[in-house]
Amino acid sequence: MSKPLKVAIIGAGGIARTHVPGWQASPYTELVAAADPNPEALSEFGRRFGVERLYPDAGEIFADPSIDIVDICTPNRLHAPLVLAALEAGKHVLCEKPLAPTPEEIRSMIAARDRAGKLLMTAQHFRFKASSQAMKREIEAGALGDIYHARAWMLRRNGLIATPTFIRRELSGGGPGIDIGVHILDLTLWLMGNPRPVSVSGVSRTALATHDGAWAVWQDTPIPKDFDVEDFAAAFVRFENGASLILEVSWLLHHDTENEDMQLWLYGTEGGCHWPKCEIYQTNYATRQLYNRSLRLTKDSMEPHAAECVAFAKAVYEGLPSPVPAEQSLQVITILDGIYRSQKEGREILLDSLAPIVPIEVMRAAA
Ligand SMILES: NC(=O)c1ccc[n+]([C@@H]2O[C@H](COP(=O)([O-])OP(=O)(O)OC[C@H]3O[C@@H](n4cnc5c(N)ncnc54)[C@H](O)[C@@H]3O)[C@@H](O)[C@H]2O)c1
Repeated sequence: MSKPLKVAIIGAGGIARTHVPGWQASPYTELVAAADPNPEALSEFGRRFGVERLYPDAGEIFADPSIDIVDICTPNRLHAPLVLAALEAGKHVLCEKPLAPTPEEIRSMIAARDRAGKLLMTAQHFRFKASSQAMKREIEAGALGDIYHARAWMLRRNGLIATPTFIRRELSGGGPGIDIGVHILDLTLWLMGNPRPVSVSGVSRTALATHDGAWAVWQDTPIPKDFDVEDFAAAFVRFENGASLILEVSWLLHHDTENEDMQLWLYGTEGGCHWPKCEIYQTNYATRQLYNRSLRLTKDSMEPHAAECVAFAKAVYEGLPSPVPAEQSLQVITILDGIYRSQKEGREILLDSLAPIVPIEVMRAAA
C-alpha cells in the first residue's frame, strides 16, 4: 500500500544518505525524488536507494504538487533560498543544520513558514538520541531544579572535512561554530528549557588551519589555502532568567582526545547532570549525603538522523508542532552570530533575539 506523504531530498550528498532509512521506516512517508546539480552524486544516490525521479534542478521538485515534504541537505548557504522556495511552493520542510548561518535568514524562514502554514524543522539529530531524551525527561520532572549554569563543548583535535561545503565561508557561513557548535549548543539550550539569550562575549580564531603543512586527518588531505573560517571558538553567554553558559568548539586543537570530546554539564538548584554519561548529581541535606545516580538507558532503536525524519513525518501526518521549531534554531544562531560579532568588535554583544520577525525582502529593501 502506498504511504500518504511523498518526500523529495534536495542535495544528494553525504548526510542525505543518513536520512533515507528514516523516510523508509516511517509508516507515513515514501521517498520518491531527489535533486542535485552533481550528476554523479545524483545517479549514485538514485541507484543506491531505488529513487527514480532524479532532477538536476530543485525547481522541478517545487513545481511537483504530489510532493508533500522537502528534505534539504545542501551546503549551509543554500538552506535559506531553498527553504523559502519550498515553503512558498506549499511543502513541509525538514532542513539540515544549521537552519541558516545568520539570524536574518532564519527570521525570513519563520515568516515564510507562517505565511505558508506548513511545518519547518531543523535536523538537530542529537535531540533524538535515547540519552538526550532520557535526560530531557529527568530535567522536565524537576531533577535539577532551576538550571543556573551550563558548560558545553565539542572539541575535535583534528576533525574537519576539508571540502568547500565546510571550509569556505561563502558556502558554510562559518567554521566549527556553525558546523558543530550548532549541535552542542542546540542540545544544551534544549535541555536548559530554551531560556532567552541576552548577551554573548566570544572569541573565534583561525589558529592552526593556516599553519604550514596543516592537514585534515579524516581525509588525510592538506588543508587548502582558501580556508577562510575559524578553527576554534569560545563564548560566555547570559540568559534573561539569569542563567549562564560557557561554550567551546574546535575542529583543530591540541586537546587530549583521539577523535572528538563532546560533553555538557548543567548545574541547578536541586542537582547537576552530565551528558552523555547521563549521570545526575544531588545532595540529601537531611542525611548530609552527596549522591550520584545513572539514568537507565534504552538503546537507540535507530540512528538519530533517521529518528528525526520519523518524528517529522509523524508531526506532519498528525498535525503536531515541529519537533525542532525554527524559533529555537534562531536562538542558537543568534548566539553563534554574536560570537563572530564579539570577536570582530572586541566586546560583549547584546543580543536582540526577540526582535520582531521581518521578511528578508523587506530588510533588503530597507537597507
Ligand atoms: N547532522 C549532521 O550530523 C550533519 C553531518 C554532516 C553534514 N550536515 C549538514 O548537511 C548539509 C550537507 O552536508 P554534506 O556533508 O551532505 O555535504 P556534501 O557536500 O556531501 O553534499 C551536499 C550536496 O548538495 C549538493 N548541492 C549543491 N548545490 C545544490 C543545489 N542548488 N540543489 C541541490 N543540491 C545541491 C551538492 O552537489 C552535494 O551533492 C550541510 O548543511 C551540513 O551542515 C549535517
